[in-house]
Amino acid sequence: MIRIVTVKLGPRSYPVEIGEKLLNEVGRICRAVSLTGRAAVVSDRKVGDLYGAQVSNALANEGFKVSNHLVNPGEASKSFAVAAALCEDFARHGVDRQSFVVALGGGVVGDLAGFAAAIYYRGVPVVQVPTTIMAQVDSSVGGKTGINLSAGKNLVGAFHQPVAVVADTTTLATLGSREWNEGFAEVIKYGVIREKRLLAELGNGNFEVPELIRQCVAIKASFVEEDERETAGSRALLNFGHTIGHAIEAVAGYGTLLHGEAVALGMVAAAQVSAKRAGLQEEEIQELIRVLKRFDLPTELPDRLSRSQILEKIFVDKKFVNGKIRFVVTPAFGSALLAENITMDDLEFGLSAIAPWPM
Ligand code: NAD
Ligand code: GLY
Repeated sequence: MIRIVTVKLGPRSYPVEIGEKLLNEVGRICRAVSLTGRAAVVSDRKVGDLYGAQVSNALANEGFKVSNHLVNPGEASKSFAVAAALCEDFARHGVDRQSFVVALGGGVVGDLAGFAAAIYYRGVPVVQVPTTIMAQVDSSVGGKTGINLSAGKNLVGAFHQPVAVVADTTTLATLGSREWNEGFAEVIKYGVIREKRLLAELGNGNFEVPELIRQCVAIKASFVEEDERETAGSRALLNFGHTIGHAIEAVAGYGTLLHGEAVALGMVAAAQVSAKRAGLQEEEIQELIRVLKRFDLPTELPDRLSRSQILEKIFVDKKFVNGKIRFVVTPAFGSALLAENITMDDLEFGLSAIAPWPM
């Protein structure tokens, strides 16, 4: 059974197809969205070994010329150096303005290959083929692409919507347990900010993965359709837990914590800020912690990372106006809002819940 969610963005609308054994359908789906020319399949070495041949064959069987481009697995590949090497590799293989990019992998490959597609020949189409829970429920949808700077995560990037997303749920079977679990951080986030029911379903194990992915994609699509470029403010609600989470990820050192693990910590801290500044109830914080623990996600900072370094990182990354920043809070699960007046003291209060030791 194939589940399809359409992201409705006028002429840039696209289908997100979700189902088993869809890697074999990648060629057909690329034809169906009118792609022609050469397919540049970008993957990391781990995913390339597992699924590269299957995707290349599916494309070749539909008559596409195919080239393969591999990067190292891990967050460190989201860099200018790797993006530049990728574009050079495209050029060496005759990828031209009639060609398109296929991003086969987790969120790292999706963000990096999507960014390369956005800048190569000033933009060639990209098809996202996500292979992690994280990428299937979140990063492959919505068109945010980018790389990291030493100053912070995703500081360079482009909005570049895919022309199709193909989420083959069969690929999830080869994920390690840590990679499997971290993806649920973003599912839990959707529960917190929009669909409270998801928290109960995750908490009691009452869910079916392809249907859960469809529901998450539909939620993400609704935010993207309302505020594609995050100018109106509503898309920013998807960043619940990310302001603190991104800082933790950077301070721990990219690759030490997986993105979802850092977001889990960021959400617990953001829930504490929400309790202080938006009236979130203590029972809801405890419910969040219970659901995160069910997926073995951290709720306390590992290795006693320093709160002051994390606060410093947030201070450098974010614009404080008169000592205040915009920060996503939840007054009650199933809803979220952008608070304009959150202070460093509030963030310190939130962080002390996940790092209850001296600064
Ligand atoms: P990832 O891409 O690093 O993948 C995690 C690990 O799993 C890697 O080692 C990878 O090789 C491996 N892997 C991937 N698929 C596999 C499979 N099917 N079987 C076995 N191993 C597999 O991490 P991720 O969590 O998927 O993505 C995290 C990235 O996504 C972060 O950089 C984050 O910033 C980004 N992100 C972007 C958005 C967005 O809107 N663009 C949203 C959320 C996250
Ligand atoms: N992951 C946040 C966004 O896509 O806006």
